[in-house]
Formats: sequence, structure tokens, C-alpha cells
Amino acid sequence: MSKKKLVFSGVQPTGNLHLGNYLGALKNFVSLQKKMECIYCVVDLHAITVFQDPNNLHDNVLETTASFLATGLDPNKSIIFNQSSVSGHAELAWILNCVSRIGWLNRMTQFKDKAGTDKEKASVGLYIYPNLMAADILLYQATHVPVGADQKQHLELSRDIAQKFNKDFNCKNFFPLPEPLISKNISRIMSLRDGTKKMSKSEESDFSRINLKDNADEINKKIKKAKSDSDVIPGELKVLEKKPESLNLITIYSELTNSSLEKTISEMAGKEYSHLKKKLAEVLISEITPVGKEIQKLLEDKSHIKNILKKGSEKANIIAEENLKNIREKVGLI
Ligand code: TYM
Repeated sequence: MSKKKLVFSGVQPTGNLHLGNYLGALKNFVSLQKKMECIYCVVDLHAITVFQDPNNLHDNVLETTASFLATGLDPNKSIIFNQSSVSGHAELAWILNCVSRIGWLNRMTQFKDKAGTDKEKASVGLYIYPNLMAADILLYQATHVPVGADQKQHLELSRDIAQKFNKDFNCKNFFPLPEPLISKNISRIMSLRDGTKKMSKSEESDFSRINLKDNADEINKKIKKAKSDSDVIPGELKVLEKKPESLNLITIYSELTNSSLEKTISEMAGKEYSHLKKKLAEVLISEITPVGKEIQKLLEDKSHIKNILKKGSEKANIIAEENLKNIREKVGLI
């Protein structure tokens, strides 16, 4: 099996992508495609672990693909496809279900969060979701996986599964152990309403997040309403760390202005939050609204998006089938 560097990552088509997805994942996807071979997947099989209205799911797959393209992913450089169109994901997931351990899955914090208090009512798919994620990565023998910090535990599990497979089937180094690529300061963009929770598609209030499709007016309103502090902006990181909403706004601003966190803090020290918010809204509007407009434009030609997915699936399937042949052989399947 080849040991060349290969990037794989996925995004769930479960509604509007937001600033957390953009800074934590998509921007990194785009910069990686300049350096390495990359495969980016719209993970529709992951989405259905929680019930999705079929019409919405169909539209969301196209919209997530449009968001990939609008942020700068290039189908001539990266393979872009939807997960369910390559059946190898489901096949390898089954094999890995038999390698992964119940005890490992029981430790997954995201399942605990998503299943809520009544775990008995969660789908079996939601429980074994991390095994499918391991299958996504290992199906391509991917070596690097750009994600936000919330996916770190799932990636550690993928490494454990890869290691156990290699040991159980006596094939040292068969699956590479995938390395997470997690950007430092922006690995966890927080909700604009509660700095202790990550920005998420599933939080009820739309004021908690900046969506890629928000217009200038919406961005202005959301940033104005974002929780901050009645004091002026402190000049020390240690003090800011005790004010998570404020730290989040400064972190986003520093990332969007390509400046270090330290420099941004010293630039803002002693100023009112209204000053930071005004500047932050300006940079957000100039970076995000062109992406939103491009998404809308791309969605006017759905057949073009479908065509990109189809071509991507064909390329992904060739790699997947070749790897699966070897995997089946290792397991002893005929
Ligand atoms: P998903 O769809 O929830 O999120 C897509 C990507 O966005 C990142 N992200 C964030 N980063 C920073 N701050 C936030 N507030 C924030 N919210 C989301 C996520 O970490 C992710 O990188 N299980 C994955 C999808 C997946 C996958 C894979 C990823 C399926 N198979 C294989 C990598 C490799 C998920 O639900 O991401």
C-alpha cells in the first residue's frame, strides 16, 4: 500500500455552514489543496444518524458542496464527492464495527452530547458514528485530517481502530495512523451568545452564529448583539481567558485580519467593545458575504454541482475499490 501523504476530511450536510466550519475547517482545506493530494467529502451518511427530511438532505448536500466551491476548493485539484455515492464507506464501516470496541465508543463525548439524556432513543447509527468516520479516513489510507478541535476524540479513535486492525490481521503499517491537523487559536470558535459552547448549526438561536449565507445587515446585527463585557478590553490574555465571549470575538478578529492574538490584544487594550465589534463586523462582511453570494450563484446551476460530485465520486471510487480489495484480502473475505 502506498505511504504517500493524503488529506481527507468531511463536513455534514445538515444545514447552513457557519463561521466555525469556515475558520476551523474549510479555510484549512483550501490551503492544503495547494500542498497535498486532498479528498473532501460531504458526509451524507453521517447526517442521517439523526433523522433528516429527505428533501432537505438532498438540498443540503448540494449546498454544502456549493460552500466547498465558494470557499475556494477546486475540483481540478481536490476530489470532492458525497459519501453515499461510494459504497466502500459503508462496507469498511461494517468491517471496522467488528474491530472497534464498545468500551471505546462508550467514551465518545460527542455521542453523549448529541444523544442527550435519553440515550435509549438515539439511533444505533449515532452510536457507531465514529467507526464510520474511521472508515472514511482509512478507506483512502489518508495520512492527514484537517478538523476543528471537536473532532479530536474521534480521530484518536480512528487511530486506535487502525492500530488494532493492523495488529489483529498481522499487517504492521497497513493502515497509516491518521494525523489530525487542528489550527491553533481557531480550532474552536465559540457561540456568540455563550462563550463556553462551540458555535454550532444545532444551537437554537441564529444569533449564536454567523452563517456563510448571512448578509451584511445580519452580520452587523449579530455582532452588535454578541455577548461581550461592560468593562473595556483588557490588555492581558490571562484576563481575557476568564471572559470567554470577549476572547472569542478577539480571536475571530485576529484570525480574519491575519494578525497574532497577542498583537490584536495589545491593539485593542483599553478600548470599548463597541470599537472591536464595529471593526469585526467590517472584516466579517468583507470576507463572508462574497462567499455567501457565490454559494447562491452556484446553487442556481444544480446540475453543475451534481456533475462535480459525480466526477469526484468516480475518482474516489477507484481509490476506494483498490484499497478495499486489499482490506477484504487481509480480513479473509472472498
Ligand atoms: P461537522 O460537519 O460537524 O463540522 C465540519 C468541520 O467543521 C469543524 N467545526 C468547527 N471548528 C471550529 N469551531 C467550531 N465551532 C466548529 N464547528 C465545526 C469540525 O471540527 C469539522 O472539522 N464528524 C465530522 C465530519 C466527518 C469527518 C470524517 C471529518 C465525517 N467523517 C472524516 C474528518 C474525517 C463532523 O460532524 O463535522
